Amino acid sequence: MKILHVCSELYPLLKTGGLADVTAALSNALVNLKCDARVIVPGFPAFMNGVTNKKLIQVMPEEFGVSIINLYYGTLPNSKVGVYIIDAKGLYDRSGNPYQDNQGIAYADNYRRFALLGYIAAKLAEGLDNEWKPQIVHGHDWHAGLTFAYLKAHEIQTGKKAARSVFTIHNLAYQGTFPKSIFDELNLPISFFDINGLEFYGNISFLKSGLFFADKLTTVSPTYAIEIQHGEQGCGFDGLLSKRKHDLVGILNGIDKDVWNPATDIVIDKKFSHRSMSGKLTCKTSLQKQLGLTVQNDVPLFVVVSRLAEQKGLNLILDEMPNLIKLGGQLVLLGSGDPKLEEAFRSLSKTYPKSISVKIGYDEEYAHQIIASSDVILVPSRYEPCGLTQLYGMTYGTLPVVHNVGGLADTVVDCSLENLDTGKASGFVFDQFSTTAFNAALRRAFALYKRRAEWKRVQKYAMGQDFSWDNPALQYFSLYKQLFTAG
Ligand code: ADP
Ligand code: GLC
Repeated sequence: MKILHVCSELYPLLKTGGLADVTAALSNALVNLKCDARVIVPGFPAFMNGVTNKKLIQVMPEEFGVSIINLYYGTLPNSKVGVYIIDAKGLYDRSGNPYQDNQGIAYADNYRRFALLGYIAAKLAEGLDNEWKPQIVHGHDWHAGLTFAYLKAHEIQTGKKAARSVFTIHNLAYQGTFPKSIFDELNLPISFFDINGLEFYGNISFLKSGLFFADKLTTVSPTYAIEIQHGEQGCGFDGLLSKRKHDLVGILNGIDKDVWNPATDIVIDKKFSHRSMSGKLTCKTSLQKQLGLTVQNDVPLFVVVSRLAEQKGLNLILDEMPNLIKLGGQLVLLGSGDPKLEEAFRSLSKTYPKSISVKIGYDEEYAHQIIASSDVILVPSRYEPCGLTQLYGMTYGTLPVVHNVGGLADTVVDCSLENLDTGKASGFVFDQFSTTAFNAALRRAFALYKRRAEWKRVQKYAMGQDFSWDNPALQYFSLYKQLFTAG
């Protein structure tokens, strides 16, 4: 089966969050299922420089105000996944973040940058590459949203679908909203600016284009698939999504075991596995020494690896930090984002230098090291479509504390007495988004940590779970097959 993924991030070349991990790992997993899975991405410098065996396969005339567009094709490093790259002078060749400038302001021409991504993706489905044409076009998040409008426009024009289509919602809160005034530049039928189309409260939403026009919708956990059909989590799309509920399915993300595996991880101090855990203590001790934290093992070391954004509920951690310190706990944080949160965590680490270490920035290797070295990973998100760090935590025997929402609810089982009794507990889950509930979950973590035999049992269970992509990839594959056989 020939599948084209449309997205803006791809691990290890370009990543700002979990999207990159998923687009790469899912494509690889599909290749392992003997699919011909390829990806199309904008020509950001990371892709132009990082994709291997890159060949120019098409030169296109002016589109979207860009005089020449070169389409390259190559492969993702250390992988069999093919990658199309759209090289459009002036549009993508900017250093740094793919979506915003150095001041954190979204690029004013983002609509053009991501419209072109969707436009060329649809053209590939129409046969732009003489040697390869996808049967399924699978877009991710708002960046890929317009793909589905272009596919629909082609279908209306020719009376034939160029390909079947799937749109995955990784985060409904990012909607790719632009003023109506840019509509003329999109090269779409005027009738598409409609409530039954990509109009959203008088504006244009690229996300809505995906939600409305794709044949099937998926999101990254079963619970989030339900949450987004109602109220606040619907972010204004709850009506549309509940209308399309028979086309919407939640497929839980997996993790790439070649990248996240404590038994083979070359960047951690000492490898370990659920059969032989001594390496984990070696990692913890050396991290404490390296960071100038008190070297101790009688209380847990907590870790956070996160975008510092409202979504992630980090104010609960800030509020509870004095209590955590009073109980003897320590915290290692790696993150970047909201300058106010960056400053708040920096200043906490200055107040408690022996107990808190904060690194502001983005550091893939350090993320592995601190997750491997810690006992508990904190993921108190207000909402979380899936969440990957709690999965990384469990895989490395670092038990998660999570808010009972979205993918966190689907992946972590609380250490209640009954769950401990059945041997199915894997972390600490709190229901209400409040400091009181978060505090109680932290205290359960401290209490269990004192009961070492019990702690080890939970750790072993958490580490032994199958979070690989094998099962999710099969679910996507059978969804594609459904579409493909649907005539
Ligand atoms: P989201 O995509 O909403 O940010 P996820 O939990 O799905 O949340 O994925 C986050 C991904 O980004 C994980 O792979 C995590 O390890 C990584 N990550 C987040 N912040 C950093 C950082 N500062 N440095 C390195 N990796 C980070
Ligand atoms: C989004 C979500 C996160 C999810 C990731 C990958 O960034 O916020 O919950 O894990 O996409 O699907």
